[in-house]
Amino acid sequence: MTPERIAVLGGGSWGATLAAQLALNKHDVMIWEFDPKVAERLSTDRSLATLPELKIPESIQITNTLADALKGRRLVLSVTPSQTVRATFQAAVKTGTFEPGSLVISASKGLEDGTFATMSQIIRETFPAVGDIVILSGPSHAEEVATRKPVALVSASSSQKAAERVQDVFVSDLFRVYTSDDALGVELGGSLKNIYAVACGVVDGLDLGDNTKAALLTRGLAEMTRLGNAMGAKTPTFYGLSGLGDLIVTCGSRHSRNRLLGEKVGSGKTLAQALGEMTMVAEGVVTCRAAQQLAQDRGVNMPIVNEMYQILFAGKPARDSIKDLMTRQTRAEMEGIVV
Ligand SMILES: NC(=O)c1ccc[n+]([C@@H]2O[C@H](COP(=O)([O-])OP(=O)(O)OC[C@H]3O[C@@H](n4cnc5c(N)ncnc54)[C@H](O)[C@@H]3O)[C@@H](O)[C@H]2O)c1
Repeated sequence: MTPERIAVLGGGSWGATLAAQLALNKHDVMIWEFDPKVAERLSTDRSLATLPELKIPESIQITNTLADALKGRRLVLSVTPSQTVRATFQAAVKTGTFEPGSLVISASKGLEDGTFATMSQIIRETFPAVGDIVILSGPSHAEEVATRKPVALVSASSSQKAAERVQDVFVSDLFRVYTSDDALGVELGGSLKNIYAVACGVVDGLDLGDNTKAALLTRGLAEMTRLGNAMGAKTPTFYGLSGLGDLIVTCGSRHSRNRLLGEKVGSGKTLAQALGEMTMVAEGVVTCRAAQQLAQDRGVNMPIVNEMYQILFAGKPARDSIKDLMTRQTRAEMEGIVV
């Protein structure tokens, strides 16, 4: 593998963990971190307060100046929180050092509030001269990747060459990467699953048990597949690592902040109270609002998203939502899914 010069935009848990993986693979990596204090800590202590188990390799350079990170680096990993991706790319374009034709890897998960855009749409809109865009997604809590536990992800792009290049850049004996040509499906799976993670947390908060959670997860998969189909994504993608795989991990894991947020709401807290108790981003909340609108615009039936929207934004008691979900018109399991 030829070492590449890579800029990592975002030195949070996932950005720093992916940067460490790239450094282990002998690439020349520079992280741009938005918060000067976090950048300073990354640089001097080689660690993150939010992920103490990760040791940042000495070979990784850290900067708080976007222009420095982008200079001479035509492979750019975008991994800031989803609601900051547009501002980050707008600032990146203004630096004048973001080279046209650069390959961008998008690892942020979520849909933009207000526009409902995917991360790759935002990147292309803010920098039309960008080269290929590759989505990197799958079941991957930073806490476990940072402690060198095996993980499998998908590298997805309409350009097979670009997807394979990103596969080569990351792959190692503990970091397995598959390719896919369904970038939209992979991107939607990684974003929408956060809504069901919040919903699984609500089920935990209500102490409803494993059967309820399994039903929620699989019916969540059905409705996200329906929305994906309506937008042009392929059904099998949702049954792969970036769909079902990510749903399983995020709905079951103790590391999932979206699940934790849902648990707080399920046990009676308001959204504002639950958010106030969180220190890290929980993107399922904003994504729920986006998915609700996308589904409405396309006439797609997404009952779980609708109920989560009511719970989070209209104060509907979670128990009433469960009752309403259970007493809807009965139907065939695979109704509305392209097979
Ligand atoms: N943590 C994970 O396990 C994981 C796994 C896969 C994907 N992701 C995705 O990666 C993205 C980043 O998540 P994370 O876990 O690294 O976040 P994090 O909560 O650990 O860190 C957030 C980072 O964003 C920075 N930030 C805050 N405001 C900013 C702004 N206006 N512009 C740019 N940066 C800003 C903070 O300084 C911090 O470094 C998210 O979209 C998330 O869904 C996370």
